[in-house]
Amino acid sequence: SGKHAIAIRGAFLDLVNDPFHAPETECVRYLPDGLLVVEDGIIRAFGAYQALQETYGQWPTVEYGDRLILPGLIDCHIHYPQTPVIASYGAQLMEWLDTYTFPAEGKFHDAEYARAIADFFLDELLRNGTTTALVLTTIFPESVTAFFEAAEQRNLRMIAGQMLMSRYAPDFLIDDPHTAAAQTREQIQTWHNKGRLRYAITPRFAITSTPEELMLVGKLKAEFPDVYVHTHLSENAQEIELTAELFPECKDYLQVYEQFGLVGDRSIFAHCIHLSESELERMAAAGGAIAFCPTSNLFLGSGLFPLERAKTDIRVGLATDVGGGSSFSMFYTMTEAYKIAQLQGYSLSAFRALYLATLGAAETLDLQDTIGNFEVGKEADFIVLDRHATPLLALRNAKPLPQTLAEVSEQLFSLMVLGDDRLIHATHIAGQRVGI
Ligand code: GUN
Ligand code: ZN
Repeated sequence: SGKHAIAIRGAFLDLVNDPFHAPETECVRYLPDGLLVVEDGIIRAFGAYQALQETYGQWPTVEYGDRLILPGLIDCHIHYPQTPVIASYGAQLMEWLDTYTFPAEGKFHDAEYARAIADFFLDELLRNGTTTALVLTTIFPESVTAFFEAAEQRNLRMIAGQMLMSRYAPDFLIDDPHTAAAQTREQIQTWHNKGRLRYAITPRFAITSTPEELMLVGKLKAEFPDVYVHTHLSENAQEIELTAELFPECKDYLQVYEQFGLVGDRSIFAHCIHLSESELERMAAAGGAIAFCPTSNLFLGSGLFPLERAKTDIRVGLATDVGGGSSFSMFYTMTEAYKIAQLQGYSLSAFRALYLATLGAAETLDLQDTIGNFEVGKEADFIVLDRHATPLLALRNAKPLPQTLAEVSEQLFSLMVLGDDRLIHATHIAGQRVGI
């Protein structure tokens, strides 16, 4: 038929429901000997090997033996231009931005440099098993073009947009709001829904946008209702204080965005650590979603995100927030989420953590119809884990492939806590294995 067809045989684990709202047994699907059938990058069949072998047994098949196959991981908030300044010492948010981040972002007017970092960044994501991300760029259109071209070349499902900044930053990172809005408009028309790409209108945060700029953002969102809005919200005490001074007419931080029509079901807000009950309730009512960034929240000393409260009625996805975050690994990020929950007196199960980085993240990004698990019709982005990737993992998991949900839960938890990029044996994009 000229179609590209492939079958994958192995142990598959995915989420089919939200384990924060239903018993885990109704949310987790585990097939110790499963078959995933992929045609032109789309999942055509998925089930137990025994049940599917009659129909698909003759298809070219890749066997992954006793490795563990998961949906591709999804990072709901990450800054590609900050890759070179990850792991920078000694500062909380505002000083960290001034000292490390702004100078690093200032280099991205250079298209060649931007492309080199975009290439490095996407390869690093794939090495870590992250196949989709919601990505921040810089104020320079060159940095946006470089990112989208690099993502398109790899056939990745990615969401990004130009960073909008018009005050409270060094001169070299300040843009005229009208120019920036015009550039954003043009980029939406070029990149939104081009192949697997989507666009997010990205005012950095309330502090660095004038009210006029946020008004222009609101107009763009009204003109293109299906593009995303992506920004930061309520991360750090000093940031919240300055925001209150800059927007004295607003009763709280969320209202800054609400007043310009920026809170809706394609809006993603990073951090949201210090939201009041009223802000949480309004976020839930408006359908806004949250990117939870554990390594960043700890690294920058920002605070403990109230995951359990937020997850009662708000979509939450996991995110690294590199370079404020200290790791590209979503497994390491799950572990830090676990510790943040521990510090608040509850435990985050391995399945809930995995949900926050797969199906739950897809829902956060309104991508649940295309990615997030192995449902037939979705795009076949998936990863293969080596349960014995390091000597310590081999010792800890010196047992056969799990057969029951309890055994998977136990092994997955140890993989999550001990694992990093070394866990990732293979990454497949639209069915095809890519070099990592
Ligand atoms: N708030 C505004 N900009 C940033 C950023 O680059 N990183 C983080 N963590 N918070 C921000
Ligand atoms: Zn961020």
